[in-house]
Amino acid sequence: MAKPKVLSTRPLFPAARAILDQNFQVDYWTPPERISRAELLQRVADKDGLVCLLTEKVDDELLNTAPSLRIAATVSVGYDNIDVPACTRHRVVATNTPGVLDDTTADFAWTLLMAIARRLLEGDAWIRSGTWPGWDLDQLVGADVWGKTLGVLGFGRIGRGVARRAQGFHMRIIYSDAVRVPADVERELGAQFVDRDALFREADFISIHVPLMPETRHLISTENLNKMKPTAFLINTSRGPVVDEAALADALENKKIAGAALDVFENEPKVNPALVPRKDVILTPHIASASVETRTKMAVMAANNLVAFFEGRRPPNALNADALGLK
Ligand code: DGY
Repeated sequence: MAKPKVLSTRPLFPAARAILDQNFQVDYWTPPERISRAELLQRVADKDGLVCLLTEKVDDELLNTAPSLRIAATVSVGYDNIDVPACTRHRVVATNTPGVLDDTTADFAWTLLMAIARRLLEGDAWIRSGTWPGWDLDQLVGADVWGKTLGVLGFGRIGRGVARRAQGFHMRIIYSDAVRVPADVERELGAQFVDRDALFREADFISIHVPLMPETRHLISTENLNKMKPTAFLINTSRGPVVDEAALADALENKKIAGAALDVFENEPKVNPALVPRKDVILTPHIASASVETRTKMAVMAANNLVAFFEGRRPPNALNADALGLK
């Protein structure tokens, strides 16, 4: 029997490729530049499965173009690129890659937090400029992290990972989420549930870990930034549109907050130009989960979802399994 045809919009990592190559006829997009929408639509048209990235939209247009498509696997935990109800209407299984990137992403949120608090990039740039005159008492004095209050906005797996790491810094940990976690989890992490307002007002560092949804778009607005301490820092490793970048640039300019470290942006790959020259901002290119180990696990997970589906099993990370009545 002919193997199912799969389009992969990236060459992926060898471990994932090995799984795909063994099970499918795979069309890999290999050029260094990302696949264009036109190319994606053309190549997916005759495919049974798709492995895609968060930069590729799986929507009605794509699903109409690919009548034989049965499964779309995004190599990301966030799936705001996938219109899941549309997939369900087209009887296409949608899958993501939860769980495997939590610690790597939490590590990176901490990397940003420490770097912005202690002015790491300013120090690095100063040395490289060749103008550092040597040690002095008041050079690049930053903010202490230990003993401060960490506010975690969104207390899922990644948010909890960030909180867990804060224990080593003897921080007070507060969190806000639509759902309060069980008391034993709060106890284990030493975390206190507060409402959003209290979190904005009390935290010295706010780390964002909410998914992008209509309710979280521009959650970091002028109104909420105004509630923050002028000494507080904002860290975002979730999704760019959660932060109103223009409002953030204004807040920084007017010293409403002390700094921000952003790994994700409202209109990637563009960044609000008002943020770019600022020394009180760190900008990184959406790399919070980018360790070789984790990105490999994510790609393998996507590949295994396809294998499960075409072997007649329920894909382990199906987002619409129940809606499709998958056993
Ligand atoms: C995701 O998986 O959603 C991240 O943004 C990329 O790892």
